[in-house]
Amino acid sequence: MSALYQAGITGLGAYLPAKVLTNFDLEKMVDTTDDWIRTRTGIRERRIAAKGQKSSDLGLEAAKQALQNAGLKPADLELIIVATITPDMLFPSTACSIQARLGAACGAFDMAAACSGFPYALAVSEGLVKAGLYKHILVVGAEMLSSFIDWKDRATCVLFGDGAGAAVVSRLDHDSGHGVIASYLGSDGNQADILQIPGGGSAHPPSEETLKQGLHFLKMQGAEVFKVAVRTMEDAVHEVLRRADLELKDVDWLIPHQANIRILNAVAERLELPPEKVYINVDRYGNMSSASTVVALCEAVSQGLVKKGQIIVLVAFGGGLTWAANVIKW
Ligand SMILES: CC(C)(COP(=O)(O)OP(=O)(O)OC[C@H]1O[C@@H](n2cnc3c(N)ncnc32)[C@H](O)[C@@H]1OP(=O)(O)O)[C@@H](O)C(=O)NCCC(=O)NCCS
Repeated sequence: MSALYQAGITGLGAYLPAKVLTNFDLEKMVDTTDDWIRTRTGIRERRIAAKGQKSSDLGLEAAKQALQNAGLKPADLELIIVATITPDMLFPSTACSIQARLGAACGAFDMAAACSGFPYALAVSEGLVKAGLYKHILVVGAEMLSSFIDWKDRATCVLFGDGAGAAVVSRLDHDSGHGVIASYLGSDGNQADILQIPGGGSAHPPSEETLKQGLHFLKMQGAEVFKVAVRTMEDAVHEVLRRADLELKDVDWLIPHQANIRILNAVAERLELPPEKVYINVDRYGNMSSASTVVALCEAVSQGLVKKGQIIVLVAFGGGLTWAANVIKW
């Protein structure tokens, strides 16, 4: 069935907290070295939210920029989707907080797809806009991983950072010649335990015991996650291109979730994509979960790297497990 309308990104924004935490800072906090972190992950520094900041604060700034970039007002928004696994609180949603503070009058909900959050939310908004249900949807990826990291666990605390990105997804004319061409979503809940925050929900409600066991912190089996990330991101790119009726040679930019430079290099190598077609900022921000892909897209566009008419593939992988990809003609 062909869609009634086309859906495209008409505005982008990003907000990175001012505080920079370098690998050298981490050397003073845990038993690690700048050399280990750089060679194993490609990360040099990451941003950390200020005391008192929360995910909605980061998301709000990115959202304001995206609206301005789209030339829209909050009143033009008909829906707000916030992808986050580090919400302000379990409920109300971080999306409702952003809706209120923007002064928008529309529906709002959070989506939890971990690091695949932005491509997941983009796929949902693509569907809603193409079906003719909404004209303008704000999609935000906002994360404050620093609140859920065990700062004594060197295996995880070196990897993550805080930040937010936002995109306005709007209805376009069918013959506009650009927009989101295809999306693909995947999951495998059987592997939930290799990447999770086990405590604080109904499975392990907060108690002295869960606090003692540190169940409120992010837990990860790094080597296992690494292998699955490479495989699923490669597969997701193939599948989304198949759905878009395109081939790898048509891709101008791969904008992947920024987890680890070795994961990105391995994916690019398997896809036989040259490094100059892969946008990388993991060195500056680390892994910002659902904010990663949208911040990377925003940077690539604002730096003028992405040109009108080019084919962009977003791809991500994360806890759930989840994975997702979108093809956009810019
Ligand atoms: C975490 C990761 C960087 C570890 O790299 P690796 O090459 O797999 O390293 P290993 O896990 O084999 O660890 C090697 C050693 O380094 C140690 N190590 C772990 N973290 C360290 C750190 N920050 N500094 C120094 N040494 C560290 C380990 O304890 C281990 O020591 P041992 O051999 O004495 O047990 C890598 O597995 C990874 O990036 N995985 C994916 C993580 C990810 O992207 N998660 C989010 C997905 S959305």
